[in-house]
Amino acid sequence: MNAPGPGDETPSAAPSGAGDHVDDVDLVDPSVQADEGAIDAALRPKQLAEFVGQTRVREQLGLILSAASGRGAAPDHVLLSGPPGLGKTTLAMIIAAEINQPLRISSGPAIQHAGDLAAVLSSLTEGEVLFLDEIHRMARPAEEMLYLAMEDFRVDVIVGKGPGATAIPLDLPPFTLVGATTRAGLLPGPLRDRFGFTAHLDFYDPDQLTSILVRSAELLGVPLKPDGAEEIAGRSRGTPRVANRLLRRVRDFAEVRGQGIVDRATAQAALKIYDVDALGLDRLDRSVLEALVQKFGGGPVGLGTLAVAVGEERETVEEVAEPYLVRAGLLARTPRGRIATPAAWQHLGMPQPTGGAAHASLFDPLDDTDQ
Ligand SMILES: Nc1ncnc2c1ncn2[C@@H]1O[C@H](COP(=O)(O)OP(=O)(O)OP(=O)(O)O)[C@@H](O)[C@H]1O
Ligand SMILES: [Mg+2]
Repeated sequence: MNAPGPGDETPSAAPSGAGDHVDDVDLVDPSVQADEGAIDAALRPKQLAEFVGQTRVREQLGLILSAASGRGAAPDHVLLSGPPGLGKTTLAMIIAAEINQPLRISSGPAIQHAGDLAAVLSSLTEGEVLFLDEIHRMARPAEEMLYLAMEDFRVDVIVGKGPGATAIPLDLPPFTLVGATTRAGLLPGPLRDRFGFTAHLDFYDPDQLTSILVRSAELLGVPLKPDGAEEIAGRSRGTPRVANRLLRRVRDFAEVRGQGIVDRATAQAALKIYDVDALGLDRLDRSVLEALVQKFGGGPVGLGTLAVAVGEERETVEEVAEPYLVRAGLLARTPRGRIATPAAWQHLGMPQPTGGAAHASLFDPLDDTDQ
């Protein structure tokens, strides 16, 4: 396996215009990284019963699939939404496997013209599952074609251009569309409404991540102790992909510096080297928190000022660091600016001054907070 090194990030993982930290190994980035596809695939649960967590979604989906199989019909179209690395692609594959149908995979960015979609749709076989990843990035004209296909199993193929163009209707076999999106909010209403079932995936709790790690360790042949699994789970940001990635890095460490066994002490020592702290914060996350607390007394401080203080672009701070800091309850976005919560002070091991935050806005009177 490739050990990650400088410059190992995919373009999508590299924060746009990041400052001097771009050579960091971004171990806790939830999006898939360059050499990870094969590993992701190898660790994917193949059946609903193997899929850990997301109990409600699993139960609901199980019902839909069994009922459809019982009727011998294609299940309703399914929309999977949720942050990267939580199992959308995995679930799409499971859906096809559970109903014993082939899976056709395409994605929004690959469909830039209605013709691209027409080509995919017209080659579907009866009952086939069509997985459209990043469906929110599909081109508009294709989207309109998809409405008709989802509802009436029909496409109008336009032949010719201009006034002489004619639409030739083409019937499609019944199929099941599985759409995935990290940005459900960006989907136009008419598209969202055409899905019979929407599953929103949530972050996993540490117990569920522990189970996922135990399963992955078995598949990878890693001797993982329960306390080691727990330690890695706690640092995985609620994301199975991050958990699996940390497991692989800790395994490397255990093999090179230890006896190959992953226990708590090994996990702690390994993740210290990789700059992933006890809450799963990496160097960027921590420098944002530290700046907020040490330079601005805990805020409120505007995003722009905070970004300058850590030497990063505002987009990097806002899109890479903040989402997890907010979710972990360490940082809050207020109309007046960013503030550190008491948990942030505690996590950094610093006493919170009383009344500090109230005055801190003086640091940043002009910086709008772009809420
Ligand atoms: N519930 C789960 N149980 C076990 N493993 C899981 C689960 N969910 C995800 N994983 C693992 O996490 C990895 C990432 O999952 P997946 O590729 O399905 O995420 P995704 O939501 O499609 O991410 P993206 O938005 O980046 O496409 C996979 O390798 C899979 O093995
Ligand atoms: Mg995916």
